[in-house]
Amino acid sequence: RKPIIPYEEIGAELLSDLVDRFYGKVARHPMLTPIFPDDLTETARKQKQFLTQFLGGPNLYTQEHGHPMLRARHMPFPITYDRAQAWLECMAEAMDEVGLDGKIRDDFYNRLILTANHMVNRQDTDE
Ligand code: HEM
Repeated sequence: RKPIIPYEEIGAELLSDLVDRFYGKVARHPMLTPIFPDDLTETARKQKQFLTQFLGGPNLYTQEHGHPMLRARHMPFPITYDRAQAWLECMAEAMDEVGLDGKIRDDFYNRLILTANHMVNRQDTDE
């Protein structure tokens, strides 16, 4: 039986559209704008590379940037629990807009919930 690779099922085009819509929302979210750069072009490019490998596609992120070490790379940015939820809300809305649904969406989103919660590196009181 052929193993199902989420990246192949979703496809590069939909993934790219998802990431662009996601950062369009991040750019307008009052809780997220303070910690993101004004120009999200490069951020989106890296996120497309990362999510490609996260979903079982080619290791594009690692090839260009080395081991992701995502928690360490996020340390300079104050990520509270509320910011992680805001990030996830933007992603859920972007998934709605590109029409990603069913098990492929649920599995992907559930993994993102775990990863987002793992990025939390500040207590809300440290703000
Ligand atoms: C980079 C915030 C969760 C993947 C960044 C940057 C910020 C940020 C501020 C730097 C942007 C830049 O300088 O270009 C957040 C917040 C999160 C979150 C608030 C909420 C929990 C995640 C998750 C993933 C992720 C869940 C993966 C699924 C990345 C990647 C980069 C990045 C791949 C680029 C790293 C690099 O510079 O090479 N994030 N992030 N982030 N984030 Fe997140």
